[in-house]
Amino acid sequence: MSAFQKETVLSVRHWTDCLFSFTATRDPGFRFQNGQFAMIGLEVEGKPLMRAYSMASANHEEALEFFSIKVQDGPLTSRLQTIREGDIILVGRKATGTLITGNLIPGKRLLLLSTGTGLAPFASLIKDPDVYENYETIVLAHGCRQVSELAYGEHVVDGLRNHELFGPLIRDKLIYYPTVTREPFRNRGRITDLIASNQLFDDIGQSSLDIETDRIMLCGSPAMLEELHAMFRARGFIEGNHSQPGHFVIEKAFVER
Ligand code: A2P
Repeated sequence: MSAFQKETVLSVRHWTDCLFSFTATRDPGFRFQNGQFAMIGLEVEGKPLMRAYSMASANHEEALEFFSIKVQDGPLTSRLQTIREGDIILVGRKATGTLITGNLIPGKRLLLLSTGTGLAPFASLIKDPDVYENYETIVLAHGCRQVSELAYGEHVVDGLRNHELFGPLIRDKLIYYPTVTREPFRNRGRITDLIASNQLFDDIGQSSLDIETDRIMLCGSPAMLEELHAMFRARGFIEGNHSQPGHFVIEKAFVER
């Protein structure tokens, strides 16, 4: 059995010149936890060309969904960005990753902090009914350079708010906080600064960061992760992993270079 399953592209949506999302069929045997990633890719010259991608779909959904950047000279994304409905992609049979609720000790408020395509695992997690069962409040923060880059996240959150079953469940629990750094927007600035200054919590009318109640997941650019890691460590938060749950967990967004 090959390590990769062939799946068929069901839909593709381009959000900006640099961002797109797509859905694909899902093998019934492909199991994952919300927040995890798998290797996905294309067959190029007879060989699999694979990169790590977080599932943006939830594990209760029939189709798979992914959110990707487009790198013009990127070996995979220069090709992946041209896929169309009906094309074949390869999906690794094994999912893995640290952004799973089991790696966190129980808490009351879940902070999902992302930049760029680091939003993807959180698009999956905010569709997980258990997350709403286990936390009183879920804050999804997404930082981008431009307003247009927020579109996919807005689409996912709007879809949930308007969903027949999820809508009522998340109405009072999910707080979406998009922020933009390089043009005017209602929320401005880097997530790091917005947390350090408490602005983020002021803006959403919530209490300040509190180790007793807050559990945190981070996914985004290496620089953002490094700064937030240092900030949380300095406040006594402990990083969790598969063997030892903690106050926060980290995954870098898988950017193709
Ligand atoms: P900025 O515009 O100030 O660089 P990128 O597209 O480079 O991955 O960045 C995505 C978002 O992450 C941008 O809004 C960017 O802000 C922000 N960012 C970059 N570095 C950091 C950092 N060290 N901490 C927090 N946010 C960051």
